[in-house]
Amino acid sequence: MKYNFDEVIDRTNYHSVKWDELETTFGAKDALPMWVADMEFRSPKPVIEAIKKAAEHGIYGYTSRPDSYYQAIIDWMERRHHWKLKKNWLAFSPGVVPALSFIIRAFTQAGDKVVVQPPVYYPFFKVIENNGCHVVNNPLKLSNKKYFMDWEDLEKKVDDPRVRLLILCSPHNPVGRVWQKEELIILGEICLKHNIIVVSDEIHADILFEGHKHIPFATISPAFAHNSITCTAPSKTFNLAGLQTSTIIIPNKKYYKIYKNILDSLALDENNVFGLVALEAAYRYGEEWLEQLLPYLNENLEFLMKYFRERIPKIKVIKPEGTYLIWLDCRQLGLNTRDLNNFMIKKARVALDDGYWFGTEGKGFMRINIACPRSFLEEGLKRIEKAVNSM
Ligand SMILES: Cc1ncc(COP(=O)(O)O)c(C=O)c1O
Repeated sequence: MKYNFDEVIDRTNYHSVKWDELETTFGAKDALPMWVADMEFRSPKPVIEAIKKAAEHGIYGYTSRPDSYYQAIIDWMERRHHWKLKKNWLAFSPGVVPALSFIIRAFTQAGDKVVVQPPVYYPFFKVIENNGCHVVNNPLKLSNKKYFMDWEDLEKKVDDPRVRLLILCSPHNPVGRVWQKEELIILGEICLKHNIIVVSDEIHADILFEGHKHIPFATISPAFAHNSITCTAPSKTFNLAGLQTSTIIIPNKKYYKIYKNILDSLALDENNVFGLVALEAAYRYGEEWLEQLLPYLNENLEFLMKYFRERIPKIKVIKPEGTYLIWLDCRQLGLNTRDLNNFMIKKARVALDDGYWFGTEGKGFMRINIACPRSFLEEGLKRIEKAVNSM
Protein backbone atom coordinates (compact mmCIF):
# COMPACT_ATOMS: atom_id res chain seq x y z
CA MET A 1 0.00 0.00 0.00
CA LYS A 2 0.97 3.63 -0.44
CA TYR A 3 1.64 5.55 2.78
CA ASN A 4 1.02 9.28 3.05
CA PHE A 5 3.82 10.87 5.05
CA ASP A 6 2.48 14.34 4.21
CA GLU A 7 -0.47 13.90 6.55
CA VAL A 8 -0.24 16.20 9.58
CA ILE A 9 -1.48 14.36 12.67
CA ASP A 10 -2.44 16.18 15.84
CA ARG A 11 -0.70 14.51 18.78
CA THR A 12 -1.72 16.82 21.59
CA ASN A 13 -3.23 15.00 24.57
CA TYR A 14 -2.01 11.59 23.38
CA HIS A 15 0.57 11.32 26.19
CA SER A 16 3.45 12.45 24.02
CA VAL A 17 6.60 13.80 25.70
CA LYS A 18 7.42 15.76 22.57
CA TRP A 19 4.04 17.54 22.45
CA ASP A 20 2.64 17.46 25.96
CA GLU A 21 5.84 18.45 27.77
CA LEU A 22 6.53 21.61 25.77
CA GLU A 23 5.28 23.77 28.59
CA THR A 24 7.24 22.00 31.35
CA THR A 25 10.47 21.73 29.36
CA PHE A 26 10.53 24.96 27.40
CA GLY A 27 7.78 27.06 29.00
CA ALA A 28 6.31 27.40 25.50
CA LYS A 29 3.13 25.49 24.75
CA ASP A 30 2.84 26.87 21.22
CA ALA A 31 6.41 26.09 20.08
CA LEU A 32 6.64 23.70 17.12
CA PRO A 33 7.94 20.41 18.60
CA MET A 34 11.00 19.28 16.64
CA TRP A 35 12.98 17.84 19.53
CA VAL A 36 12.44 14.30 21.03
CA ALA A 37 13.50 11.48 18.66
CA ASP A 38 10.19 10.07 17.57
CA MET A 39 8.33 10.62 14.32
CA GLU A 40 5.18 12.49 13.36
CA PHE A 41 4.13 9.49 11.26
CA ARG A 42 1.77 6.61 12.02
CA SER A 43 3.47 3.22 12.28
CA PRO A 44 3.04 0.70 9.45
CA LYS A 45 -0.51 -0.61 9.02
CA PRO A 46 0.36 -4.23 9.92
CA VAL A 47 1.71 -2.97 13.27
CA ILE A 48 -1.49 -1.08 14.03
CA GLU A 49 -3.54 -4.14 13.01
CA ALA A 50 -1.49 -6.44 15.27
CA ILE A 51 -1.96 -4.10 18.25
CA LYS A 52 -5.70 -3.78 17.54
CA LYS A 53 -6.04 -7.55 17.41
CA ALA A 54 -4.26 -7.94 20.74
CA ALA A 55 -6.35 -5.13 22.25
CA GLU A 56 -9.64 -6.56 21.01
CA HIS A 57 -8.88 -9.95 22.50
CA GLY A 58 -9.50 -8.27 25.82
CA ILE A 59 -7.32 -10.50 27.97
CA TYR A 60 -3.99 -8.95 28.90
CA GLY A 61 -2.36 -11.68 30.96
CA TYR A 62 1.34 -12.58 31.23
CA THR A 63 3.10 -12.92 27.90
CA SER A 64 5.40 -15.56 26.51
CA ARG A 65 7.74 -14.94 23.60
CA PRO A 66 6.97 -17.35 20.75
CA ASP A 67 9.64 -18.67 18.39
CA SER A 68 8.14 -16.49 15.68
CA TYR A 69 9.12 -13.38 17.70
CA TYR A 70 12.77 -14.41 17.74
CA GLN A 71 12.64 -15.51 14.12
CA ALA A 72 11.30 -12.09 13.07
CA ILE A 73 14.33 -10.43 14.72
CA ILE A 74 16.76 -12.95 13.20
CA ASP A 75 15.29 -12.55 9.69
CA TRP A 76 15.28 -8.75 9.91
CA MET A 77 18.93 -8.55 10.94
CA GLU A 78 19.95 -10.93 8.21
CA ARG A 79 17.91 -9.18 5.51
CA ARG A 80 18.79 -5.60 6.42
CA HIS A 81 22.28 -5.94 7.96
CA HIS A 82 23.64 -9.31 6.78
CA TRP A 83 24.09 -10.44 10.37
CA LYS A 84 23.22 -14.08 11.08
CA LEU A 85 22.07 -14.16 14.68
CA LYS A 86 21.58 -17.17 16.90
CA LYS A 87 18.49 -17.30 19.07
CA ASN A 88 20.54 -17.86 22.21
CA TRP A 89 22.32 -14.52 21.69
CA LEU A 90 19.06 -12.57 22.01
CA ALA A 91 18.00 -10.99 25.27
CA PHE A 92 15.17 -8.65 26.09
CA SER A 93 15.11 -5.12 27.47
CA PRO A 94 12.23 -2.69 28.00
CA GLY A 95 14.25 -0.06 26.08
CA VAL A 96 17.80 0.61 25.01
CA VAL A 97 18.50 3.16 27.75
CA PRO A 98 17.33 0.69 30.42
CA ALA A 99 19.61 -1.91 28.80
CA LEU A 100 22.57 0.47 29.10
CA SER A 101 21.71 0.85 32.75
CA PHE A 102 21.57 -2.95 33.27
CA ILE A 103 24.87 -3.41 31.45
CA ILE A 104 26.65 -0.76 33.52
CA ARG A 105 25.31 -2.31 36.73
CA ALA A 106 26.31 -5.79 35.66
CA PHE A 107 29.76 -5.13 34.22
CA THR A 108 31.23 -2.41 36.44
CA GLN A 109 32.01 -1.71 40.08
CA ALA A 110 31.26 1.62 41.71
CA GLY A 111 33.89 4.13 40.68
CA ASP A 112 34.70 2.44 37.36
CA LYS A 113 34.80 4.46 34.17
CA VAL A 114 32.81 4.35 30.94
CA VAL A 115 33.90 6.03 27.69
CA VAL A 116 31.51 8.01 25.47
CA GLN A 117 32.11 10.06 22.36
CA PRO A 118 30.48 13.48 22.71
CA PRO A 119 28.64 15.39 21.45
CA VAL A 120 26.44 12.37 22.08
CA TYR A 121 22.92 11.26 23.06
CA TYR A 122 22.72 12.81 26.52
CA PRO A 123 21.08 9.95 28.51
CA PHE A 124 24.46 8.17 28.16
CA PHE A 125 25.95 10.59 30.72
CA LYS A 126 23.11 10.17 33.18
CA VAL A 127 22.95 6.41 32.93
CA ILE A 128 26.68 6.13 33.68
CA GLU A 129 26.59 8.51 36.64
CA ASN A 130 23.33 7.18 38.06
CA ASN A 131 24.92 3.75 38.23
CA GLY A 132 27.93 4.90 40.24
CA CYS A 133 30.47 5.22 37.41
CA HIS A 134 32.44 8.11 35.93
CA VAL A 135 32.09 9.40 32.39
CA VAL A 136 35.27 9.51 30.31
CA ASN A 137 34.87 11.76 27.30
CA ASN A 138 36.57 10.92 24.04
CA PRO A 139 35.23 13.87 22.03
CA LEU A 140 34.67 13.57 18.29
CA LYS A 141 36.64 15.95 16.08
CA LEU A 142 34.85 18.22 13.65
CA SER A 143 36.72 18.65 10.43
CA ASN A 144 35.28 20.21 7.29
CA LYS A 145 31.66 19.81 8.49
CA LYS A 146 32.13 16.11 9.32
CA TYR A 147 32.85 14.38 12.63
CA PHE A 148 35.58 11.81 13.18
CA MET A 149 36.79 9.70 16.10
CA ASP A 150 39.95 10.81 17.87
CA TRP A 151 42.13 7.68 18.22
CA GLU A 152 45.07 9.38 19.93
CA ASP A 153 42.83 10.77 22.62
CA LEU A 154 41.07 7.40 22.98
CA GLU A 155 44.38 5.55 23.42
CA LYS A 156 45.33 7.93 26.22
CA LYS A 157 41.98 7.81 27.97
CA VAL A 158 41.63 4.03 27.99
CA ASP A 159 45.08 3.47 29.40
CA ASP A 160 43.44 3.20 32.81
CA PRO A 161 42.36 -0.06 34.48
CA ARG A 162 39.18 1.58 35.80
CA VAL A 163 37.84 2.01 32.26
CA ARG A 164 35.53 -1.00 31.74
CA LEU A 165 33.13 -0.10 28.95
CA LEU A 166 32.83 2.09 25.87
CA ILE A 167 29.37 3.08 24.66
CA LEU A 168 29.50 3.36 20.89
CA CYS A 169 26.67 5.27 19.23
CA SER A 170 26.35 3.71 15.78
CA PRO A 171 24.89 5.42 13.77
CA HIS A 172 25.75 8.42 15.88
CA ASN A 173 23.13 10.67 17.43
CA PRO A 174 23.36 13.68 17.04
CA VAL A 175 26.18 14.05 14.49
CA GLY A 176 24.65 11.56 12.04
CA ARG A 177 27.77 9.56 11.21
CA VAL A 178 27.35 6.01 9.94
CA TRP A 179 30.73 4.65 10.96
CA GLN A 180 32.83 2.95 8.30
CA LYS A 181 34.34 -0.47 8.74
CA GLU A 182 37.88 0.93 8.99
CA GLU A 183 36.83 3.28 11.79
CA LEU A 184 35.08 0.51 13.72
CA ILE A 185 38.12 -1.75 13.34
CA ILE A 186 40.45 0.83 14.91
CA LEU A 187 38.01 1.44 17.75
CA GLY A 188 37.44 -2.28 18.33
CA GLU A 189 41.18 -3.07 18.35
CA ILE A 190 41.89 -0.37 20.93
CA CYS A 191 39.10 -1.72 23.14
CA LEU A 192 40.30 -5.31 22.78
CA LYS A 193 43.85 -4.29 23.68
CA HIS A 194 42.65 -2.60 26.87
CA ASN A 195 40.00 -5.18 27.87
CA ILE A 196 37.14 -2.78 27.39
CA ILE A 197 33.74 -4.14 26.39
CA VAL A 198 32.11 -2.28 23.50
CA VAL A 199 28.44 -1.56 24.11
CA SER A 200 27.19 -0.74 20.64
CA ASP A 201 23.95 1.24 20.62
CA GLU A 202 22.61 0.54 17.11
CA ILE A 203 19.05 1.77 17.63
CA HIS A 204 19.32 4.05 14.54
CA ALA A 205 20.74 1.31 12.27
CA ASP A 206 17.78 1.18 9.90
CA ILE A 207 17.54 4.91 9.17
CA LEU A 208 20.18 5.48 6.52
CA PHE A 209 20.50 8.14 3.86
CA GLU A 210 21.29 7.29 0.25
CA GLY A 211 24.68 5.73 -0.27
CA HIS A 212 25.30 4.72 3.36
CA LYS A 213 25.44 1.26 4.84
CA HIS A 214 25.36 0.36 8.52
CA ILE A 215 27.90 -2.21 9.70
CA PRO A 216 26.97 -3.91 12.98
CA PHE A 217 30.09 -3.72 15.14
CA ALA A 218 29.90 -7.39 16.08
CA THR A 219 29.93 -8.56 12.44
CA ILE A 220 33.45 -7.31 11.87
CA SER A 221 35.19 -10.28 13.51
CA PRO A 222 34.51 -13.10 15.98
CA ALA A 223 36.79 -11.29 18.44
CA PHE A 224 34.65 -8.15 18.22
CA ALA A 225 31.45 -10.20 18.58
CA HIS A 226 32.91 -11.83 21.68
CA ASN A 227 33.86 -8.44 23.15
CA SER A 228 30.62 -6.57 22.53
CA ILE A 229 26.98 -6.18 23.46
CA THR A 230 24.69 -4.70 20.79
CA CYS A 231 21.51 -2.82 21.61
CA THR A 232 18.82 -2.77 18.94
CA ALA A 233 15.10 -2.05 18.73
CA PRO A 234 12.35 -1.46 16.20
CA SER A 235 11.44 1.72 18.07
CA LYS A 236 13.23 4.37 15.95
CA THR A 237 12.67 2.52 12.68
CA PHE A 238 8.91 2.06 13.06
CA ASN A 239 8.04 4.76 15.63
CA LEU A 240 7.33 2.37 18.50
CA ALA A 241 9.29 4.01 21.34
CA GLY A 242 6.27 4.09 23.65
CA LEU A 243 6.01 0.29 23.45
CA GLN A 244 9.33 -0.29 25.20
CA THR A 245 10.55 -3.40 23.43
CA SER A 246 14.23 -3.82 22.56
CA THR A 247 16.59 -6.64 21.73
CA ILE A 248 20.05 -6.95 23.22
CA ILE A 249 22.43 -9.14 21.22
CA ILE A 250 25.14 -10.89 23.23
CA PRO A 251 27.15 -13.57 21.40
CA ASN A 252 29.53 -14.02 24.36
CA LYS A 253 27.98 -16.77 26.54
CA LYS A 254 29.53 -15.48 29.76
CA TYR A 255 28.32 -11.93 29.13
CA TYR A 256 24.89 -13.23 28.14
CA LYS A 257 24.57 -14.96 31.49
CA ILE A 258 25.68 -11.90 33.41
CA TYR A 259 23.15 -9.75 31.53
CA LYS A 260 20.34 -12.28 32.05
CA ASN A 261 21.10 -12.44 35.77
CA ILE A 262 20.75 -8.72 36.20
CA LEU A 263 17.52 -8.67 34.20
CA ASP A 264 16.14 -11.47 36.38
CA SER A 265 17.30 -9.82 39.58
CA LEU A 266 15.33 -6.74 38.60
CA ALA A 267 12.35 -8.89 37.49
CA LEU A 268 12.26 -7.11 34.14
CA ASP A 269 12.51 -9.96 31.65
CA GLU A 270 8.92 -9.84 30.48
CA ASN A 271 7.42 -8.27 27.38
CA ASN A 272 4.42 -6.05 27.32
CA VAL A 273 1.98 -7.83 24.98
CA PHE A 274 1.54 -4.81 22.69
CA GLY A 275 5.28 -4.32 22.30
CA LEU A 276 5.68 -8.00 21.58
CA VAL A 277 3.13 -8.17 18.76
CA ALA A 278 4.27 -4.81 17.38
CA LEU A 279 7.91 -5.88 17.14
CA GLU A 280 7.01 -9.05 15.30
CA ALA A 281 4.61 -7.31 12.89
CA ALA A 282 7.08 -4.49 12.22
CA TYR A 283 10.03 -6.75 11.44
CA ARG A 284 7.88 -9.18 9.46
CA TYR A 285 5.62 -6.85 7.49
CA GLY A 286 6.94 -3.29 8.01
CA GLU A 287 9.55 -3.23 5.28
CA GLU A 288 7.21 -1.85 2.63
CA TRP A 289 6.51 1.16 4.89
CA LEU A 290 10.21 1.65 5.67
CA GLU A 291 11.07 1.57 1.96
CA GLN A 292 8.70 4.50 1.46
CA LEU A 293 9.79 6.32 4.61
CA LEU A 294 13.51 6.41 3.73
CA PRO A 295 13.11 8.34 0.44
CA TYR A 296 10.70 10.71 2.19
CA LEU A 297 13.31 11.42 4.88
CA ASN A 298 15.93 11.82 2.19
CA GLU A 299 13.78 14.46 0.48
CA ASN A 300 13.20 16.19 3.82
CA LEU A 301 16.95 16.31 4.30
CA GLU A 302 17.50 17.79 0.83
CA PHE A 303 14.73 20.31 1.50
CA LEU A 304 16.27 21.36 4.81
CA MET A 305 19.80 21.62 3.42
CA LYS A 306 18.65 23.79 0.51
CA TYR A 307 16.59 25.95 2.85
CA PHE A 308 19.51 26.68 5.16
CA ARG A 309 21.94 27.15 2.28
CA GLU A 310 19.75 29.63 0.42
CA ARG A 311 17.77 31.36 3.15
CA ILE A 312 19.53 30.97 6.52
CA PRO A 313 23.22 30.69 5.53
CA LYS A 314 24.42 31.66 8.99
CA ILE A 315 23.29 28.25 10.25
CA LYS A 316 25.33 25.41 8.79
CA VAL A 317 23.97 21.88 8.46
CA ILE A 318 26.18 18.93 9.42
CA LYS A 319 24.99 16.57 6.70
CA PRO A 320 23.95 13.28 8.31
CA GLU A 321 24.61 9.84 6.84
CA GLY A 322 21.92 8.26 9.01
CA THR A 323 19.26 9.01 11.69
CA TYR A 324 16.48 11.56 11.21
CA LEU A 325 18.17 14.00 13.59
CA ILE A 326 20.09 16.89 12.11
CA TRP A 327 22.92 18.70 13.87
CA LEU A 328 22.88 22.42 13.18
CA ASP A 329 25.95 24.59 13.66
CA CYS A 330 24.53 27.89 14.91
CA ARG A 331 27.80 29.38 16.11
CA GLN A 332 27.74 32.15 13.51
CA LEU A 333 24.66 33.59 15.20
CA GLY A 334 27.07 34.66 17.93
CA LEU A 335 24.80 33.71 20.85
CA ASN A 336 25.80 32.01 24.08
CA THR A 337 24.05 28.78 25.11
CA ARG A 338 21.25 30.43 27.08
CA ASP A 339 20.61 33.09 24.47
CA LEU A 340 20.58 30.56 21.62
CA ASN A 341 17.99 28.51 23.46
CA ASN A 342 15.86 31.51 24.25
CA PHE A 343 16.19 32.62 20.66
CA MET A 344 14.85 29.31 19.27
CA ILE A 345 12.04 29.11 21.80
CA LYS A 346 10.96 32.68 22.32
CA LYS A 347 11.79 34.26 18.97
CA ALA A 348 11.51 31.39 16.49
CA ARG A 349 8.92 29.41 18.50
CA VAL A 350 10.52 26.06 17.68
CA ALA A 351 11.42 23.45 20.29
CA LEU A 352 14.80 21.91 19.39
CA ASP A 353 17.29 19.91 21.45
CA ASP A 354 19.90 22.22 22.88
CA GLY A 355 23.33 21.19 21.63
CA TYR A 356 24.77 21.72 25.08
CA TRP A 357 22.67 18.82 26.41
CA PHE A 358 24.93 16.55 24.31
CA GLY A 359 28.07 17.73 26.11
CA THR A 360 30.12 20.93 26.15
CA GLU A 361 31.22 20.06 22.60
CA GLY A 362 27.64 20.86 21.56
CA LYS A 363 27.80 24.51 22.58
CA GLY A 364 26.45 26.69 19.79
CA PHE A 365 24.70 23.74 18.09
CA MET A 366 21.05 22.64 18.01
CA ARG A 367 19.44 19.33 16.97
CA ILE A 368 16.35 19.31 14.78
CA ASN A 369 14.14 16.31 14.03
CA ILE A 370 13.06 15.97 10.38
CA ALA A 371 10.82 12.91 10.77
CA CYS A 372 7.72 14.97 10.10
CA PRO A 373 5.50 15.99 7.15
CA ARG A 374 7.23 18.38 4.76
CA SER A 375 4.77 21.18 5.54
CA PHE A 376 5.60 20.82 9.24
CA LEU A 377 9.32 20.97 8.49
CA GLU A 378 8.80 24.00 6.25
CA GLU A 379 6.86 25.76 8.99
CA GLY A 380 9.74 25.17 11.45
CA LEU A 381 12.32 26.46 8.97
CA LYS A 382 10.22 29.53 8.16
CA ARG A 383 10.00 30.35 11.85
CA ILE A 384 13.78 30.08 12.23
CA GLU A 385 14.36 32.18 9.08
CA LYS A 386 12.05 34.94 10.30
CA ALA A 387 13.75 35.02 13.71
CA VAL A 388 17.26 35.09 12.19
CA ASN A 389 16.27 37.88 9.82
CA SER A 390 14.97 39.96 12.72
CA MET A 391 18.22 39.71 14.71
C1 LIG B 1 21.29 6.59 20.47
C2 LIG B 1 20.00 6.34 21.19
N1 LIG B 1 19.91 5.31 22.05
C3 LIG B 1 18.76 5.04 22.72
C4 LIG B 1 17.65 5.82 22.54
C5 LIG B 1 16.41 5.55 23.32
O1 LIG B 1 16.17 4.21 23.43
P1 LIG B 1 14.94 3.64 24.26
O2 LIG B 1 13.77 4.53 24.02
O3 LIG B 1 14.77 2.28 23.72
O4 LIG B 1 15.37 3.64 25.70
C6 LIG B 1 17.71 6.90 21.64
C7 LIG B 1 16.53 7.77 21.46
O5 LIG B 1 16.61 8.83 20.92
C8 LIG B 1 18.90 7.16 20.96
O6 LIG B 1 19.02 8.17 20.09
